[in-house]
Amino acid sequence: MKKRIIIDTDPGVDDALTFLLALASPEIQLEALTTVSGNIGIDKTTRNALAVLELAHASNIPVARGCSLPLVSPLHRSGEAVHGTGGIGKSVLPEPKAKPIDQHAVDYLIERILAEPQEISLFMIGPMTNLALAIRKEPRIVQALKELVIMGGAIRSGGNITPLAEFNIHADPHAAHIVFHSGIPITLIPLDATYKCLLTTADVERLNRIDSPIARFVRDATAVYMDFYKKYEGFDGCALHDPLTLAVILAPELFTFEEHHVDVDISGGISMGKTFADFMNVSKKPANMKVALDVRGRDFIELFLERMESLCRAGL
Ligand code: BDR
Ligand code: CA
Repeated sequence: MKKRIIIDTDPGVDDALTFLLALASPEIQLEALTTVSGNIGIDKTTRNALAVLELAHASNIPVARGCSLPLVSPLHRSGEAVHGTGGIGKSVLPEPKAKPIDQHAVDYLIERILAEPQEISLFMIGPMTNLALAIRKEPRIVQALKELVIMGGAIRSGGNITPLAEFNIHADPHAAHIVFHSGIPITLIPLDATYKCLLTTADVERLNRIDSPIARFVRDATAVYMDFYKKYEGFDGCALHDPLTLAVILAPELFTFEEHHVDVDISGGISMGKTFADFMNVSKKPANMKVALDVRGRDFIELFLERMESLCRAGL
């Protein structure tokens, strides 16, 4: 049976690739996108979500616009350096014809999750503002949600926005704190795993042997992202942080998971937004999540490319 998922997102280059991977995967039914401010502002993340769905001939999938500001922290705009000022690199997608639905993402999430308890899995690939507010507004969603998969955090690895913190968590650490302490069963995909999933320029060239708008989109969208990685990380390629979350459905055997109590620092000091696991169980708190500490990264990239190739060959 197909897994029914909603993706909460701030597209974002790797966010956009996540939607395409979901649409290319017969195991997944993409029910909706809910947007949030993160990599760029909410107007652009919402526009990009609609535009990428339209590119993939999937504008029947609803998009609900969500929060424009984090709960407490000031808004940062550092995502533009990585994702380009428009949010999806050098790609220029036409202005989408579809509009976001009238309902706010927070209310949409509550309504959809409560309407079908234990049916919807939520994939969070941006700051977690929408879900944190939904939990506060309607705590019953905690029991009703089937599964929550989060791209965020850096457990053993260093951070990518501060030396200690990962971007999505740091962008709204208070929201992450609410979600981590909510009691929802969580699968966390942190930088420890995502940095092992590097899409190279050779991979993008391989995909572009197929003459297709999607292949060209992947090339143009990843261009700025790859420049950033070359300049600051010293390698030829880019990490597929957000698409890796879908491997929880598509190929869970690729991961090495451990169960731990994981928390996030919201004390406002140098480690603000840092996620940390209680490896030695000194706090005696029960595990609140399953954490991917390792992954067979190249196997995931192969899977990603094969799915993209099938999407491109399908005439998109
Ligand atoms: C995360 O930050 C964003 O820039 C990416 O889209 C991803 O969700 C990686 O730290
Ligand atoms: Ca993202």
